[in-house]
Amino acid sequence: MAAGTTYVAVVGYGYWGSKHVRVLSSLPDVAVTVVDENDHRLAEAAGHYPAARLATSLDAVLDDVDAVVVATPPSAHTHVAVAALEAGRHTLVEKPLATSVADAELLVETSASRQATLMVGHTFEYNAAVRTLKGIVRSGTLGRILHIDTARLSLGRYQSDVNVIWDLAPHDISIVSYLFDEMPSATSVWAQCNIGSRHADVAHVRLQFERANTHAVVHVSWLNPNKVRRVTIVGERKMAVYDDMSDNERIRIYDIGVDPAEIDDPASAHAMPMTYRFGDITSPYIPFDEPLRVQDQHFVDCVRNGSTPNTPGRRGLDIVRVLSATDVARDSGGTVRIGERVAS
Ligand SMILES: NC(=O)c1ccc[n+]([C@@H]2O[C@H](COP(=O)([O-])OP(=O)(O)OC[C@H]3O[C@@H](n4cnc5c(N)ncnc54)[C@H](O)[C@@H]3O)[C@@H](O)[C@H]2O)c1
Repeated sequence: MAAGTTYVAVVGYGYWGSKHVRVLSSLPDVAVTVVDENDHRLAEAAGHYPAARLATSLDAVLDDVDAVVVATPPSAHTHVAVAALEAGRHTLVEKPLATSVADAELLVETSASRQATLMVGHTFEYNAAVRTLKGIVRSGTLGRILHIDTARLSLGRYQSDVNVIWDLAPHDISIVSYLFDEMPSATSVWAQCNIGSRHADVAHVRLQFERANTHAVVHVSWLNPNKVRRVTIVGERKMAVYDDMSDNERIRIYDIGVDPAEIDDPASAHAMPMTYRFGDITSPYIPFDEPLRVQDQHFVDCVRNGSTPNTPGRRGLDIVRVLSATDVARDSGGTVRIGERVAS
């Protein structure tokens, strides 16, 4: 092993793991090992990255790496990440951190006991547009936040081991809790399985935020003709829309709103007496830096200097607690309090 080089194994060279390999391979002084149990996936990796070391199991290369990125399907996260952490390897696990609260707690505990960094891949918290949006919310520009709605829709990709909420909503829960610096306290869910009989493929998740005195409705779908990645924040003074699919206006701030009007003559109040405000639409300049590159560079920096990541394992645990509560809420049909919360 060369001094000054950080050796990183990426476990799972599928849709997303291949992007980690691309990004990590482009970082200075990082050597990538690709691990996948599927020989066809390894052959594809070899074609794209002739210099990368290849292996069919993490065990075979664990002694030769400083850090591990886990990009397997979620149901394999805990098994792979525990092996990495037990060996004292700094570990980045894709979202969702685990598929149960108990597993997520095990990962956080193992990371602490082995003094190995655990980071979760909440990519949107490394997205410049989301950071800009947080600045806008915190500046008070929008006034009091009345509600937020998010939409993360497309046709597929159907997952075999988790439903659409566990697959897509971690992004929205992470974005909204990051904007408010607060985890939701309660949730209710409508979800439906339309195709096949295994997992819900369309869902609406309502999240209550007590301190911010507001709520968010998260719409996720694998069954929609349009690819939508949108967060709408409705404030008392202004409204903001973050559209991650837009090339050059990812955030738009609408100087619009509705106010109750004075009623002079109660007899004429048959229509709702409202005044509507219409003003400018502005869009802040947001330089583009691929969020996955920013995230993986941050992970490598944490590995090198021993600092705590911005999205540590316990933040992944927080989100898994919310996801787990959505299962209970869906089954019960009611509103479920989200258990023990960890400060983010
Ligand atoms: N952060 C994001 O924006 C984002 C986007 C997409 C997916 N993801 C996450 O990335 C992870 C992977 O998703 P995907 O869509 O790439 O899955 P995928 O099915 O396309 O790929 C998974 C790969 O892992 C391999 N694999 C499975 N178990 C393994 C094991 N024990 N050891 C070695 N290899 C193993 C499979 O052979 C496959 O090549 C998931 O956790 C998903 O939630 C994150």
